[in-house]
Amino acid sequence: MASLPAESVDCIWTDPPYNLSNDGITCVAGRMVKVNKGEWDRSQGAERDHAFNKAWLAACYRLLKPTGTIWVTGTLHVYPSVGFAMQQLGFRILNDIIWEKVAPPPNLGCRCFTHATELVLWATKARKGKERYTFNYEEMKSENGDRQMKNLWRMPAPGKAEKIYGKHPTQKPIALVSRCLRASTNPGDLVLNPFAGSSTTGVAALSLGRESIGCEVDIGHMVTFSLMCLSL
Ligand SMILES: C[S@@+](CC[C@H](N)C(=O)[O-])C[C@H]1O[C@@H](n2cnc3c(N)ncnc32)[C@H](O)[C@@H]1O
Repeated sequence: MASLPAESVDCIWTDPPYNLSNDGITCVAGRMVKVNKGEWDRSQGAERDHAFNKAWLAACYRLLKPTGTIWVTGTLHVYPSVGFAMQQLGFRILNDIIWEKVAPPPNLGCRCFTHATELVLWATKARKGKERYTFNYEEMKSENGDRQMKNLWRMPAPGKAEKIYGKHPTQKPIALVSRCLRASTNPGDLVLNPFAGSSTTGVAALSLGRESIGCEVDIGHMVTFSLMCLSL
């Protein structure tokens, strides 16, 4: 990200590490499995995790155009830090989109409620009354039967069709990313994902006629992306 020119990106959509890999258990396709997703998802403690979030968000702030916006997904394990870092850096938070999962995995511990939602924080660096960030208000309204779209979006997790070329343990639905990009970008805009994974963001962006770049430490995930692109 440091090698890219300042204010060169129209939109950032990202799904950062939630720091959930704590050797616990979860339920995947009806089976009890270890929650661990990889070393990249292991918490380093609240202060170091926050410093990491602030560092990559600062890199995003430099790259984003004032007319651009950033979307960051999270659960309660990460969004308090991401939201606070956004405010520390001068981002203006526009919405907290709540993604309600249609069929969430059951809570195996039975010691709290089933986790059925993720948040997507939507923010800009456009100053109120000075710069105008992109929001395709009319398009969103028309997608919602000509009524203002709410910040509560009910969508299923990625199905089999989105995993035919391989799957990522934290893969996001293309429909979720696509709606965000339809709302906040125009054809030809450049979309960046600093934590690309299998690059759901890249697939959504390219299929909407947007340009896409991403960063990913695990090359295996990018191979999945290349195969998906060939099929577009
Ligand atoms: C939560 S996943 C993103 C999954 C993605 N949304 C998808 O649909 O496939 C985060 C990804 O960030 C990558 N990652 C973690 N730390 C990174 C870093 N410092 N630089 C680049 N990629 C990193 C991990 O390998 C992982 O694939």
